[in-house]
Amino acid sequence: MFVRRIAVIGTGYVGLTTGACLASLGHRVVCADVDEAKVRRLTAGEVDILEPGLAELVAEGIASGRLSFVLGASSAVTDAEVVFLCVPTPMGVGGIADLSAVESVVDECRDLLPAGCVIVNKSTVPVGTSVRTSELLNRSDVAVVSNPEFLREGTAVSDFLNPDRIVVGCDQQDAAERVAALYARLGAPTVLTDAASAEMVKYAANCFLAMKLSYVNAVAELCERLGANISDVTEGMGYDRRIGQAFLTPGPGWGGSCLPKDTHAMLQVADAADFEFRLLRATIDTNERQRQRMVEKVRMAVTGKRGGSLSHVRLGLLGLTFKAGTDDLRDSPALAVATLLHQAGAELVGYDPALSDGHDVGKVSLSDDPYVAAKDVDALVVLTEWPEFRTLDWARLASVVRKPVVVDLRNLLDPDVVRRAGFTVSALGRSH
Ligand code: UGA
Repeated sequence: MFVRRIAVIGTGYVGLTTGACLASLGHRVVCADVDEAKVRRLTAGEVDILEPGLAELVAEGIASGRLSFVLGASSAVTDAEVVFLCVPTPMGVGGIADLSAVESVVDECRDLLPAGCVIVNKSTVPVGTSVRTSELLNRSDVAVVSNPEFLREGTAVSDFLNPDRIVVGCDQQDAAERVAALYARLGAPTVLTDAASAEMVKYAANCFLAMKLSYVNAVAELCERLGANISDVTEGMGYDRRIGQAFLTPGPGWGGSCLPKDTHAMLQVADAADFEFRLLRATIDTNERQRQRMVEKVRMAVTGKRGGSLSHVRLGLLGLTFKAGTDDLRDSPALAVATLLHQAGAELVGYDPALSDGHDVGKVSLSDDPYVAAKDVDALVVLTEWPEFRTLDWARLASVVRKPVVVDLRNLLDPDVVRRAGFTVSALGRSH
């Protein structure tokens, strides 16, 4: 069954992906945003988010007449059957999610929503927000449903169209079923539950992923001390189907616009419920400590001793975005490590395949060529897991650096290849 009147409020990577994918499933979707220039660009099919497949889906949606863009939520909702809220919920004061964007859309649309329509909260919001939204809305003829998204940046379209699961929560069963039906063609397992549980699934999942990464980063550190190899350890662990191979690669810590925000928000929610969530606190602390540990790894590799000085040391940083496949620098562990390296006195040149002049990369001087970034450096430091770093011409890099040292903080490179080119390599979770 196709729904003819879906409104999506907010055209960030969640909103735009949701709108374009729902249109591709056969529904008719109007996406609204407050940014007039953005609405104009999207109407012309111009997508400025780096998300594989999204521009094509937007173009197809526009051509089919099933996807359109309007300025302002009120223009989109007047005849909507289902309204998706995909507005930002950034980290507010004290780590609590800032819901002002959700609240302002509700205020704007309260009197415009047709009777019987369903509001769907896709933004990550604290447990209890759906109930609060219902209260704010104060319309007994409009149901509020929680339907969290599980999209990763860089693979959002494919995550949407091949979901591991659909989660829909509402205290009114019929409204939850109407929302679940929108995804029926995807054939994914569907969890129908109450609103609070659906909201909790999103936080619990992201916090679990963060915990998995902090755990693996801690195990990697222990491997270094005990002479074990983390790649073999995680491979051996991951074959256990209860653990799985995914999300077991050590790195400079987890970042981005979701995991840091959601772990802090969950901690706040726990605090407010008078629950001391020590495991989550340790997950966050381990992540913060990881950044400092990365600086020590660089120090050791460059100077050969613990606590060696990095002052006047020139470093070539490979990768600055929070992960590969995106140009997003928000809460990037790479940038956090770069800041600490700068504070320790190092001079930084950086290269990232997704970045060019104009991106704010703090104290790093950005180059658009990895071989230029490597010129005269005392070490190359891999900070983001861009696959193309593996196939750089390592012999050429060896010929331009001052010292052939690589610190691979993503365990990305093939150590044999890099060593054959003349580099010494240090990575995570390996003693040699
Ligand atoms: C994350 C979740 O994975 C999505 O399921 C969720 O929908 C999304 O947040 C959200 O809440 O909207 P995302 O922020 O795009 O997605 O990033 P991830 O792919 O989860 O990566 C998070 C961080 O962990 C990155 O810094 C990444 O480099 C790091 N990471 C990931 C590792 O260090 N090792 C790994 O094995 C995997």
